[in-house]
Amino acid sequence: MKYEEIKAKIDNIVSNPVRPFKSEELKAIVERYHINHLKSKEAFERAKKILPGGVEHNLAFNYPFPLTSKRVFDCYMQTVDDIILTDYLMDGGPIILGHNHPQLTEKVIEVIRESGPCHGITSEYEYLAAEELQKHFPSCEIIRWLQSGTEADMLAIRIARIFTGRKWIIKAGGSYHGWSDQLVYDMHIPGTKRLESYGIPKPVLQYTESIPPNDIEALEELFREKRKVAAVIIEPMGGESGAIPTRLGFNKEVEELCHKSGTLLISDEVVCAFRLHMGGGQAYYGYTPDLSVFGKIVGHGYASAAAIGGRAEVMATVAAGVGGGAKRAYCGGTLAANPLTCAAAYYAMKLVEETGATEKAGKAATRLSIGLNEVFNKYNLPWFSYNFGGTVHFHTSCVFGLDLGDPKQAGQIPQRKEFMEHMGAALIDQELISVAGSRFYTCILHTDKIIDETLQKIDNICQKIE
Ligand SMILES: Cc1ncc(COP(=O)(O)O)c(C=O)c1O
Repeated sequence: MKYEEIKAKIDNIVSNPVRPFKSEELKAIVERYHINHLKSKEAFERAKKILPGGVEHNLAFNYPFPLTSKRVFDCYMQTVDDIILTDYLMDGGPIILGHNHPQLTEKVIEVIRESGPCHGITSEYEYLAAEELQKHFPSCEIIRWLQSGTEADMLAIRIARIFTGRKWIIKAGGSYHGWSDQLVYDMHIPGTKRLESYGIPKPVLQYTESIPPNDIEALEELFREKRKVAAVIIEPMGGESGAIPTRLGFNKEVEELCHKSGTLLISDEVVCAFRLHMGGGQAYYGYTPDLSVFGKIVGHGYASAAAIGGRAEVMATVAAGVGGGAKRAYCGGTLAANPLTCAAAYYAMKLVEETGATEKAGKAATRLSIGLNEVFNKYNLPWFSYNFGGTVHFHTSCVFGLDLGDPKQAGQIPQRKEFMEHMGAALIDQELISVAGSRFYTCILHTDKIIDETLQKIDNICQKIE
């Protein structure tokens, strides 16, 4: 689906009232949720006493209460109540080979037996995995392993500031680049600016600015106003992994503008790498960043997997040990570059390539997305879907699309978010688990049969809408 069509459909949804569930159907969904997930409910009650809010995972939305898993396998998740959910959460993106891919699991176990999880000096998997990553991301001449996407984004802006000697960082409204102090700004819904920046003193965000998504003129204007821009950071598919999609050509325009101005372009590939394209957003959209940031999928979900890569002269600022320059971008991390994660990354990247996982997950996603549109049309709903490779978005109440400059839309965040929670619960009712009731990630094990069964379940949900 073309950008203009997506934009028009989003505008149509947000300028009209939400199409809610029939009240008796919603009541029944919530009642069944309580009945079917008694052990999860008990687990939540216990967790509440020791974990903040009783849950530490936000992506599945957790309404009316979070579920507790017992086991995952293939493209399924089994809860403590022995409900088997078809999994489109995929841990928020990293799982593209399916859960517990046997070959990958065996390799990782071998490494644990030999090296344990972590021991504090270099293992060969560090450079093997870096070489493998570089093969697909030639813009990454030098690569450093880190522990999370958040950390890698945080380091990317520090490197950019040292390399350019400038301060300003510009991002697109709605984009997510982890939760470090300087990047918790204008997240999720464009225009929200400091709405989610509690606990972050204003001066920390003094040199962070955002532009409306896809607005190259606004970026040019900011470059004129704030001449000292160290870096522009982008989510290649657009904010929230493409929930607010990128206009074709935008990323290249940003690259050109950055490079004319001596500003670094940071490509946040945390979701795009291997899922959108083997070479990530930069290969898919055709641009060359100075720095690239990788997270979770680079280690196929194994813990502490993240990396930053880029031009050698830029990455020189981050050299550790004897190679460290005078103006060094300080970074560390006891668990970073551990043998377990680097081995997982190395074997996962090889397996993704060998199995054609990116293409297969993309095909499954396309089938799902086309099918979703057919079901939505059948029920005359304004909802719609599109996919970028193995990431499927389906917009229903479309909270991300709200225009906060429009007084009629600005107050609608709570009710539109609430509807997405209802959708999350309705999906669980159909034994499907999604990201935030609005996104499906696919893997190589989502077969045509599974996709078609999913579509029947979506049809069941649409029947419950007013
Ligand atoms: C585009 C993007 N950047 C950064 C992050 C943060 O990564 P992590 O959760 O590993 O800190 C995420 C997480 O979802 C992401 O989607």
